[in-house]
Amino acid sequence: MSEILSLGYLGFNATDLEEWKCWATEILGLQIAETPPDAPEESIYFRMDERAWRFSVEQAEVAGLAFTGWEVADEGALGRLHDRLTAAGIVAEFDAEAARRRQVEALLRCEDPDGNSLEFYYGAFISRHPFISPRGVRFITGELGLGHILNQVGDEKASRHFYFDVLGFQLSDTISFGSNKVFFTHVNPRHHSLAFVEVAGKPPALGHFMVEVDSLDAVGVALDRVNSGPTELTETLGKHTNDHMISFYMRNPSGSQTEYGWAGRTIESGWSASSYDATAYWGHQVPGSEYSATGPMSPREGA
Ligand SMILES: [Fe+2]
Repeated sequence: MSEILSLGYLGFNATDLEEWKCWATEILGLQIAETPPDAPEESIYFRMDERAWRFSVEQAEVAGLAFTGWEVADEGALGRLHDRLTAAGIVAEFDAEAARRRQVEALLRCEDPDGNSLEFYYGAFISRHPFISPRGVRFITGELGLGHILNQVGDEKASRHFYFDVLGFQLSDTISFGSNKVFFTHVNPRHHSLAFVEVAGKPPALGHFMVEVDSLDAVGVALDRVNSGPTELTETLGKHTNDHMISFYMRNPSGSQTEYGWAGRTIESGWSASSYDATAYWGHQVPGSEYSATGPMSPREGA
């Protein structure tokens, strides 16, 4: 069993904080959060629920994913995770300064096989002020966490060992694209909190992150805003084969993609992993491309 309970927060680097601010509030419907006391000078934080923040964005020379926060229950769980990582030969260090900055009780940091910065923590700060979305949307979070991420990895075997054997993620299912296979993994009832795929010739990178809202209308309104503004639509509205999410994809200001979805199915008791050869039942086409029964052929872009 995994000590990890959910995907708790994401940190991004960005070259244009103002662009992030407009996109996150006007398209996604995130609320600008109070800046934590020890936050870097040029940074902006966003809320999607009762948590003080779920997304942090820092000004940087190069845009991209900065860190991924995985939540555990308490100090004991964090200690067990530390022991588990150390036993596997992975350097994992407690970082009190980072914990203060992230407004959590304690934080353990390590790198995954691609050098991505992972943070494990407990004791996230809850705001005493209600979450109020500037777009009036409600996000599906709670025990399911903030959503999911899809990572393009450098070595599938190394990632499988790290995430399955060391961290205890469970396989939900796989989608195969020719010689590539996407692994969808869960740590709670959300169908997947993490997916990963090795694509020959492509460097490790965040493919996309997904946030889920509580109505199809909220997805439709966001899609209307994308279609009438500068945000690049990267995949049309569609329904995924494996998690049944009805969603569309867009470019985010840190260069990866963001999936905005509704009605993802959850993992139930007795779940057994399935395999698929297509990402979508319908839709999820790259705008302007010809219809493909298997959906977008780049797993980095899709799934
Ligand atoms: Fe996704």
